[in-house]
Amino acid sequence: MFHAAVVPCLRKKTKPKAASVTVARHEVKFKEVRLFLVEKKMGSSRRRFLTQLARSKGFIVDDILSDDITHVVSEDSGAASLWAWLKGRGLNNLSNMQVLHISWFTDSMRAGRPAAVESRHLIQDALPAVPQGSTLAPVAAVSQYACQRRTSTDNKNKIFTDAFEVLAENYEWSQLKSSCLTFRRAASVLKSLSWAVKCMAATQGLPCLGEPTKAVMEEILQSGHSFQVQKILSSERYQTLKLFTSVFGVGPKTAERWYRMGLRSFSDILAEPGIQLNRMQQSGFLHYGDISRAVTKAEARALGNIIDKAVHLITSDGIIALTGGFRRGKEIGHDVDYIVTTPEVGKEECVLIHVIDCFKKQGIVLYCDYQPSTFHISKLPCQKYDAMDYFAKCFLILRLEASQVDGGLSCDEDDNRGWKAVRLDLVSPPMDRYAFALLGWTGSTQFDRDLRRFARLEKRMILDNHALYDKTKREFLAATTEEDIFAHLGLEYIEPWQRNA
Ligand code: CTP
Ligand code: MN
Ligand code: MN
Repeated sequence: MFHAAVVPCLRKKTKPKAASVTVARHEVKFKEVRLFLVEKKMGSSRRRFLTQLARSKGFIVDDILSDDITHVVSEDSGAASLWAWLKGRGLNNLSNMQVLHISWFTDSMRAGRPAAVESRHLIQDALPAVPQGSTLAPVAAVSQYACQRRTSTDNKNKIFTDAFEVLAENYEWSQLKSSCLTFRRAASVLKSLSWAVKCMAATQGLPCLGEPTKAVMEEILQSGHSFQVQKILSSERYQTLKLFTSVFGVGPKTAERWYRMGLRSFSDILAEPGIQLNRMQQSGFLHYGDISRAVTKAEARALGNIIDKAVHLITSDGIIALTGGFRRGKEIGHDVDYIVTTPEVGKEECVLIHVIDCFKKQGIVLYCDYQPSTFHISKLPCQKYDAMDYFAKCFLILRLEASQVDGGLSCDEDDNRGWKAVRLDLVSPPMDRYAFALLGWTGSTQFDRDLRRFARLEKRMILDNHALYDKTKREFLAATTEEDIFAHLGLEYIEPWQRNA
């Protein structure tokens, strides 16, 4: 579902709870960072002094170690004893915390803001991640950020990640955003591994795997499945919400409302006089059989040809680019995503409108939701996390003829209508925003989320589908390619097919 994939705001909110531990007279300047200073080796009086110093510079310093902490700072150079102590604190979020040497704190105080974390600052857990049965040297540390991992479509840990996805979905539908994110992050880490986890010892040192996720994995390793996941899968609520949200235009909120009304099937919905379906949902039901079936690569390519022809009717230098899952090398998708634009900034929206017009003239438009551009440079940088971008875009359902597809359509054997309804998303960024739009629309959603989180927490930059803003330099950083954006962020370039986080 388009909505399920894009709309949820899964950021863990920083709880505004530390009033009692943060001295109120200092203004908080860095809300995203919450420090904890480890007393061992530091001593209580030096800890008090450093706490005051940091607070006076606008940092939040908690006296108590909780799951809200983002940065743990220690003067203890013995990593093993520090990590043993940390692991004994019963934290769920330890794998997401930065555990740092005092040098990071000193750098930050000197700079008057949180310093970018470099490898020399890290106090690493002495127990590295070693694949089971491996006699090789310990594998390189796995980053907590998906944008520092390479994740192909070849998922070696599907038994775990499928289970995590069920739990994440279930938490999402119960509005438990942080638990949802915990399982999505854990799944993303496991997807990046080139080896299958065969025993829990092999997960030592992997980030983002807390106690709740490990408990599920352990159960799956022992019995082949998780009791909790089985229970959810067989529950009426899960099955109903899964069914309802599989309809184009039905998000979790609508699905929940219908469930609460006692509705359990499509016929229940269609027979309920109190329900007014919107245009999107009507199309969703009308074409359910087709658009709930996966789109193949050949079908995506066929749509590309159709778009290409339409664009070239209006301009010889039009640009069309495949994005979304197919650009990441996926074999199938729930829709097809293309960028349509032109080198001349300001003309892109015309091109999109023309393309839609051309589709209409061909009689292939089954559904069309055109959203004009609301883009203006003054709206940047956009502080809203996970918000939709401002570019002109169009969500469509098109009629695709079998004759246009290499090897034919992926239809039921007994269904020889000769055409199939397919979901298509088109977006038209102005050319000077092209690289940002391409990066954002290529996804995956989890990869994008971590790119933004990395930019914000590690680089003091704001990244979205429109731009990259450096808060320290107070300027926008220009980019014409995705490589430029990775370079600005100090990241190694990750190819599209390595972004299946
Ligand atoms: N996206 C976006 N803004 C939108 C719509 C989508 O940035 N208004 C991004 C999503 O965050 C995602 C990408 O576009 O990274 C593709 O979205 P979607 O088609 O939902 O997911 P895919 O990764 O293509 O998965 P699938 O193969 O199932 O289509
Ligand atoms: Mn897609
Ligand atoms: Mn899409």
